[in-house]
Amino acid sequence: MPTPSARPTRKAVIPVAGMGTRFLPATKAVPKELLPVVDRPALQYIVEEAARAGLGEVLMVTGRNKAAIEDFFDRHPELETALEKKGDAARLAAVHESTEVAQVHFVRQGEARGLGHAVLQAAAFVGDEPFAVLLGDDIIDARDHLLEQMLQVQAEHGGSVVALLDVGRENIDKYGAVAVEPGGTDVVSITGLVEKPPVDEAPSSLAIIGRYVLAPEVFDALRGTSPGRGGEIQLTDALATLVERGEPVHGVVFSGRRYDTGDRLDYLKAVVQLASERDDLGPGFRAWLAEFVADLPTAGASEA
Ligand code: UTP
Repeated sequence: MPTPSARPTRKAVIPVAGMGTRFLPATKAVPKELLPVVDRPALQYIVEEAARAGLGEVLMVTGRNKAAIEDFFDRHPELETALEKKGDAARLAAVHESTEVAQVHFVRQGEARGLGHAVLQAAAFVGDEPFAVLLGDDIIDARDHLLEQMLQVQAEHGGSVVALLDVGRENIDKYGAVAVEPGGTDVVSITGLVEKPPVDEAPSSLAIIGRYVLAPEVFDALRGTSPGRGGEIQLTDALATLVERGEPVHGVVFSGRRYDTGDRLDYLKAVVQLASERDDLGPGFRAWLAEFVADLPTAGASEA
């Protein structure tokens, strides 16, 4: 019997080829993955997370309008020389961070045909081993070790692992939803998946969020996946195929801090939370924020 942990996960795939329509007009010319969360792009947090989890080889699936992403992870000799001349060691280190954190490769998706189609572009890079997928606009707080936990679950059970969040039944129609075997707590066995189901047909209130550890068999399932919800090739549908074929798919139920920076309200929350926790900016920002909040009218507050 093959041992599930025989092939360790070493590689990460970060799809960044989406159109970012929820954040227009900003994303007309700037990829949403480069929008700054405090002073670094959302994407940098994600590459750092992959590297912390031991995944030092990263493939980004990019598309049109995304050349700035390649520039961000490349060296910038003129800028480095200028900072060196000024003796600005701190900013020089910050500029180096983005190029040194991981070995970053790129492949183009050509046309934004959905997350499943983006992941399929990574087949040659990944080969025949399990790999992680981190969505380029989904920040998981560095103190919550979700990816590490998922890698452990994959090493133990084999197959594929997805991150799940209980979003409440009323919100499940915006996500991929899962059916699970009863009895699990933070690690569950998945028996079915469906992309953006109507609220009254959803199998549970557990939504798939932007972290996956996938078996390479997913590529074969993706090749046979037709466009689904929204006319896009859905990763959720390929995972449903794996479940139907009897391949293990587990879920890790996450209860920590997560920000979907492609969503305007969540983006604002990420900036405020992460800025208020910073050693350098935090004290001044928190003092201002407390005053600002004290002056806010409390009645009639509504979400964007
Ligand atoms: P989203 O579901 O957030 O889609 O994609 P989107 O098109 O980028 O954004 P909206 O909904 O129009 O605002 C989740 C992740 O998958 C990538 C995105 O870049 C994002 O990181 N993606 C999506 C691709 O790489 N290719 C695609 O065809 C679709």
